[in-house]
Order: sequence, then C-alpha cells, then structure tokens
Amino acid sequence: MCGIIGYNGKGNVKSILIDGLKALEYRGYDSAGIALSSINDKEIIKSVGRVAKLEEKVKNESKLTPKFGIAHTRWATNGASTLNNAHPHTNGKITLVHNGIIENSDVLKNDLIKKGVKFYGDTDSEVVAALINYYLDDNDIVDSINKALKMLKGSYALVIMIDGDNNLYAVRKDSPLIIGYSDNGYYAVSDISATLGNAKKIVYLDVNVIAKFNSDTITYYRDCKEIKEKVIDVSNISFESSKDGYEHFMLKEIMEEPKLVSNFINKYLYSDNSFYDISNYKRIDIVACGSAMHAGLTSKYLIEKYDKIEVNVYMASEYRYEDKIYLDKDKTLIILISQSGETADTIAALREAKENGIKTLGIVNREGSTIAREADYVIMTEAGVETAVATTKAYIMQVLVLSLIAIKTSIKLGFSDKNLLDEFKKLPHLIEAVLNNSDNIKSIASKIYNIDNCFFIGRLIDYAMCMEASLKLKEVSYIHSECYAAGELKHGTISLIEKGTTVFAIITDKSVLDKTISNLKETLARGARGIVITCDDTDTDFDLEIKVPNAPYFIEPMVLIPSLQLLSYYVAKERGCDIDKPRNLAKSVTVE
Ligand code: G6P
Repeated sequence: MCGIIGYNGKGNVKSILIDGLKALEYRGYDSAGIALSSINDKEIIKSVGRVAKLEEKVKNESKLTPKFGIAHTRWATNGASTLNNAHPHTNGKITLVHNGIIENSDVLKNDLIKKGVKFYGDTDSEVVAALINYYLDDNDIVDSINKALKMLKGSYALVIMIDGDNNLYAVRKDSPLIIGYSDNGYYAVSDISATLGNAKKIVYLDVNVIAKFNSDTITYYRDCKEIKEKVIDVSNISFESSKDGYEHFMLKEIMEEPKLVSNFINKYLYSDNSFYDISNYKRIDIVACGSAMHAGLTSKYLIEKYDKIEVNVYMASEYRYEDKIYLDKDKTLIILISQSGETADTIAALREAKENGIKTLGIVNREGSTIAREADYVIMTEAGVETAVATTKAYIMQVLVLSLIAIKTSIKLGFSDKNLLDEFKKLPHLIEAVLNNSDNIKSIASKIYNIDNCFFIGRLIDYAMCMEASLKLKEVSYIHSECYAAGELKHGTISLIEKGTTVFAIITDKSVLDKTISNLKETLARGARGIVITCDDTDTDFDLEIKVPNAPYFIEPMVLIPSLQLLSYYVAKERGCDIDKPRNLAKSVTVE
C-alpha cells in the first residue's frame, strides 16, 4: 500500500528519499513521485511504474540542490494509476503526500470549486492540499493545517511542504506515520524501514498531533499548543532486510522458517506467559485478513479440539460491520492477527471490541505497530522483517503462536498431558526436511506452471490449509485458483471440472481421509488431474503427490504449508512473475 517518506536534514536529500522509496517498494504500489525544495524553488517529478524509473527521471531532470523533500509510492484507490494522480499533489503554496482515504472529498471538492479553486486530478489527496491552501495563513501555518484537518472525514497520514517555508509538517489519523531522529536530520515515514536504519530514535505520532521540523529542530503541536511526544530508542532494533544471496525475498523468507520456529520454541515453549492461557474464556472471535485469517482458521480446529472452547473466525472487513451478539462479554476474547499490525479493517475491529468492553489479544509481527500498541494483550510472532508481499514465514509463526495457545490452554484445563509440549521441539527439523527435499516440488511446478485454473480441496483443518495454499498460488503466479471444502465442490462448482483441470487435495486429517479421496476421485472421473499433498504414512497412489513428514495434528499444518509455499514460488518462477512484488497487491493494507 502507499508509502511515505519526508526528510529535512543535512544529508543528500535526493538519494535519501529515493533509497527510502526503494525500501517501501515491498508494500506494493503502481506509481511514485518526489517533491524537492530549496525553500525558494521546488521540483516535482513523478512516474508511473517502478521507483527505478523515478530514480532515472530525477537523475535526468532534477537541477535543484534541495534542503528537504517528500516522496511517495502510490497504490491506486481513488483515481487510476496516472502521472496526474501520482503524489506529491500541489495546490497553491501547498505540496503534500498522503496515505489513507478522505471519505468526504467529493463534498469538500465541490465546495472549493464553488469558491473558485481549480483541480487537475481525481484524487482525494489533492483536495486536502487545496483545503490547506484555502485556509493558509503564513503567520500561523499550524493553525491553518488544523483548520483543514477539522473538515476531513476518513484516514490520513500527511507530510506537507509550503512554498517559502523551511519546515516540513507531518500529521496522521488512522494511517501510520512515524517521526525518525537521525544524526543528520528528521524523517516522517509511513514505515520505519524507509529510514534504512538511520533513525536511531522514533516517535509514533499521536492522532492529529502536528510535527513541524526543519533540519535542526522539531516541535509537536496538539490543537496548536506545543506538547512533548514520547521519544523511543530503536537503535538496537533492526528494521532492514536483505536477500542474503537468495534470488527472491520469498524464497529467503521460506528458508528462514526452521530457524525462526526454533528460536521461538527455545524462548517460549515452557515459559509462563499468561497470554497463552485462554482457559477463562467461553468464546473466541478471531478477526484478521488474508493469510492471517487463514492462520486463525487453522487454529479454530485446534482450539475447539484441544480446549473445547467455541471459536469463530471472521474476515475483519466483514466483522467490523456485522451486528454482534455477545452473550457474555467477560467470557469473550477477540484475537486480532496481523503481520503488519496496520491493516485498517483489523484495527477497526480491535477498536470496536475495546469500545464494547471486550478483551483483545493481538498476534502481531511488527513492533510498535498500531495493533501491538492498542490491544490489551500482545504476543509478538518474532518473524523479523518480512519483505515479500506474499507472507510465508510470518504466517507460519502465527500458526505456531496459535498452536501453542491451544496446547498450553489444553494442559491448563487438564485435557492434555504437559508432555505434549515436547512435540513442538521436533518442528524445526520437520520443516527443514520439507525444505531440503524440494526436488519433487520443483518437478511438480514444472509440470503444472502453464495451467490457467486449479482447485484446492480438503476437509476441516485441511480445508484451512487449502485456503492458504490456494491464496499463495494465485498471489504470486496469477493462476486462477479456487478453494473448496471437499464435500462442497459437487454442489455447483464441479461443473467447472473438465479434462485436464488441476485439483490439489490436502489430506492430513485421517478421520476424513477416505471422504476427501472420494471427492478427489469424483473430479478425476470427469477428467481432472489430481495432485495429493499428504503425510508420509498415508497410503495413497496418485501420479503426482507431495508427501511431508508425519507430525501430531497440532503441528502438521506448519510442516505441510511450507511445501505449498515452495510450490507457489517455483510455479511463479517458471511463469516469470514478479514474485516479491505481485501486481496489484500491497503488503500492508492500510485502507478499508
Ligand atoms: C495483505 C497481504 C497479505 C496479508 C493481509 C493481511 O493482503 O498481501 O499477505 O495476509 O494483507 O495483512 P496483515 O499485515 O494484517 O497480516
């Protein structure tokens, strides 16, 4: 999703901004732009497509030696991906970059047009620039920005520059924006990785607090009154990542899984963290988006089986608008799962839960993210920086945390013996075994990479895994893939099965083994090509099979999914896809 970097300091402004944008590329975008200022002069350069193209344009066209600047990667929401709509946006003396969505922009725009203001693009962001310019009083810029903010409905992270002024102004509501303190100046960034480790201290900007900074000083204002913000030392935290010799981040991140799992288990397997104990609750609502939601779905089967607690899993974008019936608020826990901790719908669900007085547990990967800061309890997944847009290692760590919750709670409730925890110690080796035996997976990838459509079928926890495997494949390879509960396929969708259609069946749950095989055979009878993904001890006889080591029920998903992450990777590679940055996708979805 859109990325922001503003910098005011004594470093090389152009390269700091361009390098910052490169670090934000992983979030997903389709155009980019930069505004450079020497106080009396400014340049705005934009391009549709990759940051490398913008870099080239800046090299060829920029004449300025700037003192500060702002830059942006745009993931189109309001208006197509065109040069006009790319940020920064200018109106009068205001130039700004914006993340988020202004919901009342049409009303504001019409109002401004009636007052004679001219617009050149279709974005809501330009409306913000026009509005600030409309209120602009050179003698009190903070007050002018405040007046404009009061008119806005929706979400925003804004970094603003004003002709003739040597300051940058940053402000946010419901979209992240972080102030970074470096040795040679100040940053305002949507994601700390954009400072490339140069910011040793940061401030998580509070809602509607305006940060005003030049190269030497920074001041914070709430309602135009100067305030102090809490400065956090991050000098020991690494926000950077490199491919470490791998061709793609996705492959590198899959390969990191055994080590991450091992580190986590060594630290927390026998530790006494009360957040893993959900034995006091009678109902758990798990709310998340995308793969994080699939991790939640996997854990539904574990928590219901081992803890006998009712679990419902919801897509955050639906949950936040549903009428909810909580029979016993004190006995209900809402678990929010999110790699980024910044997904707009998941944050909205968290806030609503808190307003309803229901306890919330965040399972989050990014330190200091909104969900990590706002949930009542937090478990960090400790997957490190994940750069490929398609999540792999963070998903595995989410499932690991949830499996530990299920088993630790089961032991607490007296349903399971404490020795069950020891089983987790085998997990890193089991994943390693899958990753080290990738020849078969590569060979299957080379046989299927040119298909247009496929299906994933499975039952119960295998269905939850199918959801993730299917999403992974379509995300990175652009193959149309549908996931079905195996028994449901024949209620309509089987009409799509024809000669050569590829059907993947995940079969690890022995209680439904025969049923899923029958469903797969129903598709084979209609000409489908079946591929079975199952455990070593399961006796099946299909031409194409991926077999993974046997493991206990609560561990098997973390052993099996890496094989299908690899399959998606190799299929995408065969197809020549942009694996780490698939088209149209965003790593962190900060709009609803
Ligand atoms: C995007 C990403 C997915 C991710 C989902 C939820 O769609 O591309 O990989 O699963 O958002 O993100 P979160 O950061 O909340 O886990």
